[in-house]
Parts: sequence; structure tokens; C-alpha cells
Amino acid sequence: MERLAVYPGSFDPITNGHLDIIKRGLRFFDKLIILVAYNPNKSGLFSVEERMELIRQVVGDDARIRVDSFSGLLVNYVRDNGAAVILRGLRALSDFEYEFQMALINRRLNRDIETVFLMTGYKWFYTSSNLIKEAAGHGGSVRGLVPEIVLQRLQEKYADSFKKG
Ligand code: PNS
Repeated sequence: MERLAVYPGSFDPITNGHLDIIKRGLRFFDKLIILVAYNPNKSGLFSVEERMELIRQVVGDDARIRVDSFSGLLVNYVRDNGAAVILRGLRALSDFEYEFQMALINRRLNRDIETVFLMTGYKWFYTSSNLIKEAAGHGGSVRGLVPEIVLQRLQEKYADSFKKG
């Protein structure tokens, strides 16, 4: 049977840490759905379409990967798409409590679905999309933390702050 997992996140934007989880996840799963899970009442730096487009560009043409978006209960999406596993990356200690809570509520909502964690590669242990945005927004270099195309898009988004500083 095909092993399918859903890798959900905000991906605002995708980082090298996410990419690391995707590559390693594909060693254990035959197929991955990379799911941009969004709240319609919250706007990110990148629109949902931009996030999906960036993910597609970064992962390239890979038949094992599908990129999708969804707003609603994650476990419902997972069930409706024939999967039973949620894949999440786990970084430094600060992630643990939040991820633990989320895994528990998701299991309570649907006991047929398990969350599987992969420890993020040490190089990405302390970075997050939020910190990367903050650094880039103040003109700091985030080269090496995000794929080249994401670096370009961040620079475009923050063009004004880059000009200033
Ligand atoms: O990249 P993030 O922001 O850490 O991802 C969090 C995300 C999107 C996976 C999480 O907020 C989520 O699953 N949202 C969908 C709503 C939901 O099902 N929440 C958990 C049960 S209340």
C-alpha cells in the first residue's frame, strides 16, 4: 500500500528547514502532500498562491509531491485525502510544547491519524519563517537559510527596507 503523508504548515515562506524535512520525509513516505494550511482571517507576507508557487519551484518536478492549500481542520483534510499521517519537523525545545499540544488535539479529533516528527537538521534548528522574515525585513542577510528563489522574493517584498539599510 502506498504510504502517504501530509506535511502541513504556513510556509510563509518555505525555508531550507522545510526542505530538509521534505527530502528526509520522502525516504519514509512514497508520497507527500505539502499543504499550505491557512486562516482566511490572517494575512501573511506571501499570499497562499505565492507560497504554493514558491514551494512548487523549490521542490521542482517530482511525481511524489503534491502541493495543495486548505483552510479548516487539518485532520479532516488528511482523512478526506486518504492519508493517515501528519508529518511535522521538530526544532529546538520551544517547538515541543506547541507541537505536542497540536498532535494531541489532532489525535483526539481523529484517532486514526498519527503525527510523525522528524528532528530538524542541526543547521536549521534555530530558524523559522518568522525569524527569517524579521531579519530580511530589517535588511539582514538570510542567504543560506532559504532557497535562492525565496531569497529573491523576500528581497522584492522588502525592497524598500533594503534600499534604506
Ligand atoms: O507552520 P506552522 O504555522 O507551524 O503550521 C501550523 C499549522 C498550519 C499546521 C496548524 O496551525 C494547523 O494545523 N492549522 C489548521 C487548523 C487545525 O487543524 N488546527 C489544529 C487542531 S485545532
